[in-house]
Amino acid sequence: MSKVFVFDHPLIQHKLTYIRDKSTGTKEFRELVDEVSALMAFEITRNLPTQEVTIETPVGKATSKTIAGKKLGLVPILRAGLGMVDGILRMIPAAKVGHVGLYRDPETLKPVEYYVKLPNDVNERELIVIDPMLATGGSAIDAITSIKRRGATSIKLMCLVAAPEGVAAVQIAHPDVDIYLAAMDEKLNEKGYIVPGLGDAGDRLFGTK
Ligand code: PRP
Ligand code: URA
Repeated sequence: MSKVFVFDHPLIQHKLTYIRDKSTGTKEFRELVDEVSALMAFEITRNLPTQEVTIETPVGKATSKTIAGKKLGLVPILRAGLGMVDGILRMIPAAKVGHVGLYRDPETLKPVEYYVKLPNDVNERELIVIDPMLATGGSAIDAITSIKRRGATSIKLMCLVAAPEGVAAVQIAHPDVDIYLAAMDEKLNEKGYIVPGLGDAGDRLFGTK
């Protein structure tokens, strides 16, 4: 069974409060999602392997550390996942970025895939699938299935807000994928929205509706 981590860092929790607030407008919402994503990138990379290297400082020889192991890749689920990309890239600028396009059919709540483009060496990378919302889990499950089918073997899932139903569904479908969150909320409502959640992440990020 995969593990679930909720990042309780005060800065993440503070910013998430304003992201949730319905009076927060598009510009501020987008900036806050970007900032929280950068902070979450800091947390999610905490256990990356490092290696010792020797360098010359202006004063002398030093043994110091660099990141070792697999290269990283980000896979935002379109469209709302796009809002998290730049913040994470500020922390991990060398990461490659693939995209999975899915939308949730408003009637059936089932995801419909419309686009997939991944780095060629996806099988050699540690991938972080990103989406602000993990509701029923259908979108994340299908996105992860899709990238596994294309060769990915090492995957983490990072979301801002999740419902317990979605977390459980992803754990059953992909027990090898650990889940990283800023918050685990109460439940889903009858329309498949996370309660209390933050509303429709894509619409709030891009000012649509
Ligand atoms: C939202 C969200 C997730 C999905 C979560 O996307 O960004 O991708 O719903 O719901 P689920 O866990 O029940 O699948 P949406 O389908 O609204 O598309 P958008 O990002 O293009 O707005
Ligand atoms: N997608 C969203 O954007 N918000 C929810 O609460 C559920 C799915």
